[in-house]
Amino acid sequence: MAVTSGSGPVLEARGVRKDYGGLIAVADVSFAVGAGEILGIAGPNGAGKTTLFDVMTGHTKATGGEVLLAGRTITDEPVHARTRLGLARTFQQPMVARSLTVQENMVLAVAYGRSRGPAGHRRQTAAEYLDFIGMADQAQTSSDLLGVFDRKRLMLGTALATGASVILLDEPFGGLSPAEIDETIVLINGIRERGLAVVCIEHVMRALTSIADRVLVMHHGSVFFEGTPAQMLADEQVIEVYLGSRHKKAGEA
Ligand SMILES: Nc1ncnc2c1ncn2[C@@H]1O[C@H](COP(=O)(O)OP(=O)(O)O)[C@@H](O)[C@H]1O
Ligand SMILES: [Mg+2]
Repeated sequence: MAVTSGSGPVLEARGVRKDYGGLIAVADVSFAVGAGEILGIAGPNGAGKTTLFDVMTGHTKATGGEVLLAGRTITDEPVHARTRLGLARTFQQPMVARSLTVQENMVLAVAYGRSRGPAGHRRQTAAEYLDFIGMADQAQTSSDLLGVFDRKRLMLGTALATGASVILLDEPFGGLSPAEIDETIVLINGIRERGLAVVCIEHVMRALTSIADRVLVMHHGSVFFEGTPAQMLADEQVIEVYLGSRHKKAGEA
């Protein structure tokens, strides 16, 4: 179970809302996640999951509500300020600087993050995280030569290398083979063991239910269900709105 620091949640959303014109992408969402805890977020496409991350990280401005990091309000802070306070994320589409090597991507992330210091120290921190994501032997590889799994791992590594205490993962298993999914499960459990708070959006139910301590299911911008993975899988409304249609789609395909 979650190892909490005793000083309350690391990341908290209080009544977060985001309107795009007449469309309510996120409506009154609240959650909290503690150190060493993995919170899963599921829900159909268009439910507002990525927009919720965008509001948490400052990639878009909340229309209402509050975002707190280690108890401090960060609702109006820009993205880079939140990064330096320990908040990092990954994106649905793997984003790395393709003109740089794997190692250069990592060093850049350290420089952008919390623990900037002398160049030697940055290189050492970058090397440690490169080892953690299992890509030390590809340090000198040009990033535009990487496949999807390696680009996703590298994006995860750069997010960690900022010195994050909380990381938001947007569909980290999407597009991966079963073996790559298994490796990513091990990696994310390793992040939890390092004491980070993790929030993970995911459609791959096998992965989400194996890593998450708790799960939120979003639908039309709102939290529709909150509970353990086992409770989610057994919930009749969740099956009807989300899991059932997914199973049907998979069966039809
Ligand atoms: N920048 C934007 N401008 C207008 N509408 C947006 C924007 N980003 C997302 N939306 C809309 O917000 C809703 C939620 O989208 P999103 O957060 O991407 O859902 P999910 O990640 O759950 O699939 C969708 O209806 C989407 O079209
Ligand atoms: Mg999304």
